[in-house]
Amino acid sequence: MGASLKIDVLTIFPGMLEGFLGESMLKRAARSGAVEFRIVNLRDFTTDAHRTTDDRPYGGGPGMVMKPEPIFAAVESLQPGGARVILMTPQGRKFDQALARELAGGSHLIFICGHYEGVDERVRQALATDEISIGDYVLTNGAVAAAVVIDAVVRLRPGVLGGEGATEEESFSAGGLEYPQYTRPPEFRGLKVPEVLVSGDHGEIRRWRQEQSRQRTRERRPDLLHDGKDRASKHEVSDENEDAG
Ligand code: ADE
Repeated sequence: MGASLKIDVLTIFPGMLEGFLGESMLKRAARSGAVEFRIVNLRDFTTDAHRTTDDRPYGGGPGMVMKPEPIFAAVESLQPGGARVILMTPQGRKFDQALARELAGGSHLIFICGHYEGVDERVRQALATDEISIGDYVLTNGAVAAAVVIDAVVRLRPGVLGGEGATEEESFSAGGLEYPQYTRPPEFRGLKVPEVLVSGDHGEIRRWRQEQSRQRTRERRPDLLHDGKDRASKHEVSDENEDAG
């Protein structure tokens, strides 16, 4: 296995991430040493008696803004040299599978989770190397958004998922949506598994899957095809994986 991916998350709600990172695949990934999680409570980097992490906005207006000092102090305590320092914000680059792959290739990721109305602008100006949004909607809390990104990134690290090749055929990896999957029983409530899948003819199965993948992408996500090339046509099923599952 390769070197571990360090993932640090700065938040004022550590409990939200402790639960999430302590279950299932992410828990196993940490146990195996594929990743190392650290959850950092921003309140531990305040210097006043009230452990204040936010304040009123200059210029007035509703809501509170997260103060820069605890965020800078927390990031600087994590030896961020070479790390990607990622601010979670609806104004960031839209997260997708390509960005997940890019982040999975790194060695140290630091996530800054904003809350309330926002984060002091100097955090973007002088601390963050990246800003990421998980979609065009506003959450109360960047910790949920960081959890989404972490989940998508960690499962791409070598050794985290059981079957090698499991992430090569799935939706988005090859540019389109994945073909439909079936398991036993062969008939359930009158609904039959397509004949071709039980035929044992691997060439036919591969062709059927490619066609299903193209059709699904055309029907449901034509935007994935409208980038100048027919990316779904690259959705090949490799020979090594045809017996998987
Ligand atoms: N914080 C609040 N909303 C967000 C979003 N859509 N993406 C990332 N961080 C956020």
